[in-house]
Amino acid sequence: MAHTAAQKSMAIPLTAFALGAVVALLVGVFGRVHDPTLEGTTTLGYSTVLAMKTVVATVIGVLVVVQLVTALWMYGRLGIRTPSWLGTAHRTTGASALVLTLFVAYHCLWSLGLEVGSLPDGEQVSTRTFVHGLSGCAVLGAVVVKIVAVRSRRAPGWFLPVAGGLLLSLLVLAILTSAAWYLGVKGWPSLAG
Ligand code: HEM
Repeated sequence: MAHTAAQKSMAIPLTAFALGAVVALLVGVFGRVHDPTLEGTTTLGYSTVLAMKTVVATVIGVLVVVQLVTALWMYGRLGIRTPSWLGTAHRTTGASALVLTLFVAYHCLWSLGLEVGSLPDGEQVSTRTFVHGLSGCAVLGAVVVKIVAVRSRRAPGWFLPVAGGLLLSLLVLAILTSAAWYLGVKGWPSLAG
């Protein structure tokens, strides 16, 4: 009986990881077949879409750090008493990070896509850009896994922290290979005009 229960709960993470992998793959395929266009994008007043994404991705980076700290705090890893508002704070910052991530990922996919090999003008795609595109697609798959982990009550206890850790690591990789690079090379983006 216990064996059946364990098998049943393992089915949730396994299904979620399979679903996440399919989503990441489909996003990657879309990134290859869609014709990149700036139509349907916004700069939010910054000089370029890349500049705007760098600003929003930096905000996401800060929210990701808040997610990590509040998660460790909730799991008792900081050795500080957990206040009653901590869960709400973790959920609110997490939901904000998710909305902003979808916003930035849309702009990447729509206006640039998944760049591999060389661009139409012959320019070679850098390893950084390639790793960024792959990690960006994987982020969207990991979002699906994380949502299942948050929603399911019967999954094993390790599933939520593993799903959260996976999403966090992929987001950090996607941000380090884009916004962090941009800030290092070009500095803080300026507003247009
Ligand atoms: C959904 C899959 C994604 C794809 C296929 C993708 C692809 C790209 C590509 C091709 C570039 C241009 C890189 C260059 O030429 O230098 C770019 C830029 C950028 N991406 Fe993404 N991206 C994705 C997701 C994300 C996510 C999740 C974030 C952050 C949360 C992000 C943040 C940025 C930022 C800030 C830039 C501008 C800085 C730069 O030029 O590297 N992207 N993306």
